[in-house]
Amino acid sequence: MSKVVRFGVAMDEDLLARFDALVARRGMAVNRSEAVRDLVRDALVDAEWEESPEEVVGTVTMVFDHHASDLSDKLDALQHAHFENIISSMHVHLDAHNCLEVVVVKGTAEQVRDIADGLLGTKGVKHGKLVTTTHGRDF
Ligand code: NI
Repeated sequence: MSKVVRFGVAMDEDLLARFDALVARRGMAVNRSEAVRDLVRDALVDAEWEESPEEVVGTVTMVFDHHASDLSDKLDALQHAHFENIISSMHVHLDAHNCLEVVVVKGTAEQVRDIADGLLGTKGVKHGKLVTTTHGRDF
C-alpha cells in the first residue's frame, strides 16, 4: 500500500454542508476523507470503464409495466439480438403491473452502452439505469 497523503480542499460552505448531510444520510462513510476516497474511486472506475480497450461489464436495471403495449416482447427481442453480450438477466414481478428487470452485459464499453441505451430507451420503460463496473482492479 502506498503512503497516505493529506491535502486541503477549498469548498463553498453550503456545498460542504450538503456533502456532510449526504454522507450522514448514506451512513456508509465514517468521515469526509472516506467519502471523498469513495468518490475518487468511483470516478476512476468510470474513467477506466469508458477508456478501456478490454472487455467491461455493466448492469442495466429497468422498471416497466408489462401491460404497456408489446414492451415485454420488445425487451426480449433486444436481449435475444445481443445474446453474446448479455450474460444473465433477472426478472421480478413487483406487483400486479410492474416488473423489475436486471440485465448483466459484457463487451466493449461502446457495445455495453449501446445495448443499455436500447433497453432504457424502449418506450414504456419507466425508470432505469446502467451501472458500470470493471473486473475488479484495486484502486
Ligand atoms: Ni413481471
